[in-house]
Amino acid sequence: MTNITQEMIEDELAKITLGNKKSILEANIVEGISHKDGHIQISLYANKSNIEEIEKIGKIIEKKFTTIKGVMSITAVLTNEPTKEEKSKKLSKDKSVNKIEGVKNIIAIASGKGGVGKSTVSINLASAFSLIGKKVGILDADIHGPSIPHMLGLKGKPELNSKKKIVPFEFRGMKVMSIGFLVDEDQPVVWRGPMVHSAIKQMATDTDWGDLDILIIDMPPGTGDAQITVSQHLPLNGAIIVSTPQPVALNDAIKAIGMFKKVNIDILGIIENMSYLLLADGTKENIFGENGAKEMSKNLNIKFINEIPLDKKIRESSDNGVPFVFTELKGQINEIFTSSAKKIEKILESKL
Ligand SMILES: Nc1ncnc2c1ncn2[C@@H]1O[C@H](COP(=O)(O)OP(=O)(O)OP(=O)(O)O)[C@@H](O)[C@H]1O
Ligand SMILES: [Mg+2]
Repeated sequence: MTNITQEMIEDELAKITLGNKKSILEANIVEGISHKDGHIQISLYANKSNIEEIEKIGKIIEKKFTTIKGVMSITAVLTNEPTKEEKSKKLSKDKSVNKIEGVKNIIAIASGKGGVGKSTVSINLASAFSLIGKKVGILDADIHGPSIPHMLGLKGKPELNSKKKIVPFEFRGMKVMSIGFLVDEDQPVVWRGPMVHSAIKQMATDTDWGDLDILIIDMPPGTGDAQITVSQHLPLNGAIIVSTPQPVALNDAIKAIGMFKKVNIDILGIIENMSYLLLADGTKENIFGENGAKEMSKNLNIKFINEIPLDKKIRESSDNGVPFVFTELKGQINEIFTSSAKKIEKILESKL
């Protein structure tokens, strides 16, 4: 008999969409899933205004699951949608349930636009945390274009330990896991929503991270399936938004911030990357404009963490497989990453 798992059920639910094309998982209408020996019960939130639509969804779920091998019975029940306050309480309760063993804090490094430097910021922040004595993990959740293996000069396939957990790679004491270790570099993988969901969840929860003070998740750009999985299924402390100073990047950053807020994820702060070019005489040239992200953070009431200059050595160090922070242990840029790590540490403490 096919064993029905939580993951299979979630994958099927993720395929069911509402009128607005959002999956019912994404739209947060699934209150809970319980299953035993192929008997499944799914409870759905409904309120006065959407009860008819949710009832229909319930019927669709029942019809769909009846055809799945191994399903002995399926019932969809409606429950009263809780108020916003009750919802956020439930979310924090769920988070403790899903806790990744041994991992104290989890932060996502996200952006609206691609190529603004999330991966660069992730590895350098991670390195800075490590150099101030923290136990650090890096999870590359960019399933479409994982760049962490390249940036840390790591290659190969991870092994499983006796507990059937994935043994993460290590870079100078930091634990590293990336989808890049699991798929072939030159083989394009077309990921659908549910696959994105299970790949990220599996990497996060099936990796033997050991004891970590902080796990840094390098996100793909935008507000798609990966963001939804990470925000809804991992116990995130919050997200750091990376943006470059020009208006197009800032507009996309605002969208990403909106998405995280909608799913009750705190925005811990904003980092502006490629803020300026440091000229030989010590002056700054603001190639992409000035103070864009700073202004944005003020307007949105979000902490501004730091500005990081555009510097050839930052790019070169990443391409050489060693984060800049490890290549220059002193100096202005190292100081910027170190102070960013310390600021984030303070922000995390203030939220306890
Ligand atoms: N401050 C910087 N100075 C110089 N080069 C940088 C800086 N930040 C990032 N880069 C370079 O810009 C490129 C894009 O950076 P990165 O891959 O970190 O962006 P990303 O936001 O993770 O991209 P994607 O959205 O594709 O995941 C890389 O070649 C990186 O080395
Ligand atoms: Mg990246």
